[in-house]
Amino acid sequence: VDQTYIMIKPDGVQRGLVGEIISRFEKKGFLLKGLKLFECTKELAEEHYKDLREKPFFPKLIDYITSGPVVCMAWEGVGVVASARKLIGATNPLQAEPGTIRGDLAIQTGSFSEVVFALGLLKPCKESHSYGKLSCRNVVHGSDSPENGLREIELWFKEGELCQWTQIQAPWLRE
Ligand code: GTP
Ligand code: MG
Repeated sequence: VDQTYIMIKPDGVQRGLVGEIISRFEKKGFLLKGLKLFECTKELAEEHYKDLREKPFFPKLIDYITSGPVVCMAWEGVGVVASARKLIGATNPLQAEPGTIRGDLAIQTGSFSEVVFALGLLKPCKESHSYGKLSCRNVVHGSDSPENGLREIELWFKEGELCQWTQIQAPWLRE
């Protein structure tokens, strides 16, 4: 059984989307193992996103993640990592499909040409999928592999903050 780390980012908290976002995972049927409102340090944000350290948008990303409280969650279920990524949608909210969290709840900022480029409507001058000049804001994070799911849950939660429990609906969710 997999575990994934889901985090409602500061824009999601500030915009009052906490209930809406939790609800999507809850209704899907995954098991909630941990949940807290949390103000993270720069060091924790940098450790969490350490693989992106070399990206031009990294400083902006760290400022964003530390700009207000986040909601940290651990969810469990068969295939939960990949399934949560589908529920969340594409990284850039403009490319995220309707029906996904980012597709339904987030937009983008930037100049017209930057946004058009990010949408893939124009051929970029240089070969790149980056939308570096645009906003990092996309309301939610989800682990990208089961290994990272475990790593991130360990990073964001302390011992004793996760619950071992059985959902009353479990027999109706899992045959
Ligand atoms: P997370 O679930 O937050 O890890 O997003 P992701 O897995 O969909 O994307 P990735 O791990 O590549 O990037 C982490 C975060 O950095 C994204 O969610 C965005 O907030 C931000 N980000 C990624 N790529 C870009 C970019 O090209 N430009 C800007 N401005 N921000 C980006
Ligand atoms: Mg990622």
